[in-house]
Amino acid sequence: MEAFGFHYSFWLTVGDNYMKLQLEEILAEGRALIAGADSESSLNDLRVQYLGKKGHLTAVMKTMAELSPAERPAFGKRVNEAKAALEELLDQRFREVRALELEKRLANERLDVTLPGRRLPQGTLHPITLVTEEVTRIFSTLGFGIVEGPEIENDYYNFEALNMPRNHPARDMQDTFYVSDDVVLRTHTSPVQIRTMLQHRPPLKVIAPGTVYRRDSDLTHSPMFHQVEGFLVDRQVTFGDLKGTLKTFLNRFFGRELGVRFRPSFFPFTEPSAEVDIACVICRGKGCRVCKDSGWLEILGCGMIDPEVFKAVGYDPAVVTGYAFGMGLERLCMLKNGINDLRLFFENDIRFLRQF
Ligand code: DAH
Repeated sequence: MEAFGFHYSFWLTVGDNYMKLQLEEILAEGRALIAGADSESSLNDLRVQYLGKKGHLTAVMKTMAELSPAERPAFGKRVNEAKAALEELLDQRFREVRALELEKRLANERLDVTLPGRRLPQGTLHPITLVTEEVTRIFSTLGFGIVEGPEIENDYYNFEALNMPRNHPARDMQDTFYVSDDVVLRTHTSPVQIRTMLQHRPPLKVIAPGTVYRRDSDLTHSPMFHQVEGFLVDRQVTFGDLKGTLKTFLNRFFGRELGVRFRPSFFPFTEPSAEVDIACVICRGKGCRVCKDSGWLEILGCGMIDPEVFKAVGYDPAVVTGYAFGMGLERLCMLKNGINDLRLFFENDIRFLRQF
């Protein structure tokens, strides 16, 4: 057994040396690969390759069964040392690579805080919106409330209740888009008078801005445009009240004392009716192309609310009086800003819109 024992031990020693050699090789190779790795992901791969469950060191550990029990502890210790060494190297290289990657990113993504900022393109309000706001603001300061009505309107509110019966020639004044026999695209903001008077009792003092539609399309007419309606209902309202209110509005809107004149006219829903002219804002009344040498520009329609309208909403015309007026916002805007082409409002050319 002695000889045998020697023999046996000899081979074990050889086996141990052989395994030790292999371990050194693995360690050396691992060191080199870790040192050469330049990304977190390749380091992760190496960690699996060397320290993972199916990694090189685990494989070496498994061969330990071939050693004598006496030799196992020393060998196991060496494997564990190798493991710890590789772990330490991996962690260190990880930190280095991370720092390098951060440096690279900082260099690439560096913010130049001295660069001028990029402005977001800013929108502007449409000139018609601006004029609507200006008009409602002025009337608000005069004590008018603001109401709105639908753009798709019953024939009754748009015409009938405003003293324009079916088949009456008065309807000729407004070329209408019919949705059905009884429903139209409102041709003016006047139906809001009817809706408001039906919903509330006097006294009333409101304006109603909004979009209106007519079958008209040429240089000076657009099938869609905008109006502001205004009316006041109370006892003993006079034409003088109407004149004072409109003069005050026009002077404020155009920013100076304008010549204003009231010319007799006709509307089915007012009696008496008038059209209001202002002294031409271009030539100041001397006569030019814009005012067709008359010195005056027509700007709105108005009058005392017709008793027939009061009857339609159940008010007693013997007790209740009122005035009403209506004006086109495109026209107001054109005159205020010296715009000579109606189509500019609807073309949405940004160079035009930016000027307001
Ligand atoms: N609704 C009329 C139109 O569009 C304008 C108008 C005239 C309104 C006289 C009124 C008014 O309230 O009294 O042609």
